[in-house]
Amino acid sequence: MSKLDILTLVQNSDKFLIRNNITSSRFCPQDLKMVIEFVENSTPSTITPLVHKTLSFHSECMKHRIDDGRKYWKFLDNSNCVAIIGFHNRIWDPSSLCWGGWFCAAKTLPSRGKLGVLGYLLRTCLETQNIQRILIEVYGDEIDSNVYQIYKKLGFQEIGTIRDFYGANKKMITMSVDLVALRSIGISL
Ligand SMILES: CC(C)(COP(=O)(O)OP(=O)(O)OC[C@H]1O[C@@H](n2cnc3c(N)ncnc32)[C@H](O)[C@@H]1OP(=O)(O)O)[C@@H](O)C(=O)NCCC(=O)NCCS
Repeated sequence: MSKLDILTLVQNSDKFLIRNNITSSRFCPQDLKMVIEFVENSTPSTITPLVHKTLSFHSECMKHRIDDGRKYWKFLDNSNCVAIIGFHNRIWDPSSLCWGGWFCAAKTLPSRGKLGVLGYLLRTCLETQNIQRILIEVYGDEIDSNVYQIYKKLGFQEIGTIRDFYGANKKMITMSVDLVALRSIGISL
């Protein structure tokens, strides 16, 4: 697939979410319990404590008005959490890039709904003019997550591999989305 496929995803993300009755809003500390419960019920047990730790830390920072460089969104079907996604900037990185955060979706959500969540993140980053590149660290082994295959199919660029990152024979793959190139195609969001 080409960059156009990412664009199609971005342009249709709202449609995918609306069709699936999904609403989005920024994660806030009051959401922590609901989101953690969703993650516990919907993702592999290896991922749950990591998401828990990340979102608990983020919640505490929000409560104390500390900017930890993170932004997350929750996605609701009626009042049930069906997905989360987000991104973060590390203070020592160039401000022109961000790292994609946790992308978790309920198994029950139709695949276009899941892709709508991903499109929402890309769209949000595209609308944030100073972000030029999204980097994403993904599990490289299908046994841990199929997210690498999904990103590859969409045309995300593979830029590096760290072997034995998550443990023996468990690699981490870094992928990249060039927002400058996407903006230069001149899409109207
Ligand atoms: C990542 C996650 C949201 C994907 O959800 P999923 O239920 O596995 O995805 P689906 O099977 O519904 O597929 C969604 C889309 O990706 C495509 N896809 C799924 N698996 C694929 C694969 N192995 N190869 C190519 N495309 C694939 C599907 O075809 C579908 O697109 P389509 O409707 O255009 O065909 C989900 O697995 C999850 O929440 N995992 C736990 C958290 C996690 O691992 N996050 C990543 C770390 S940040």
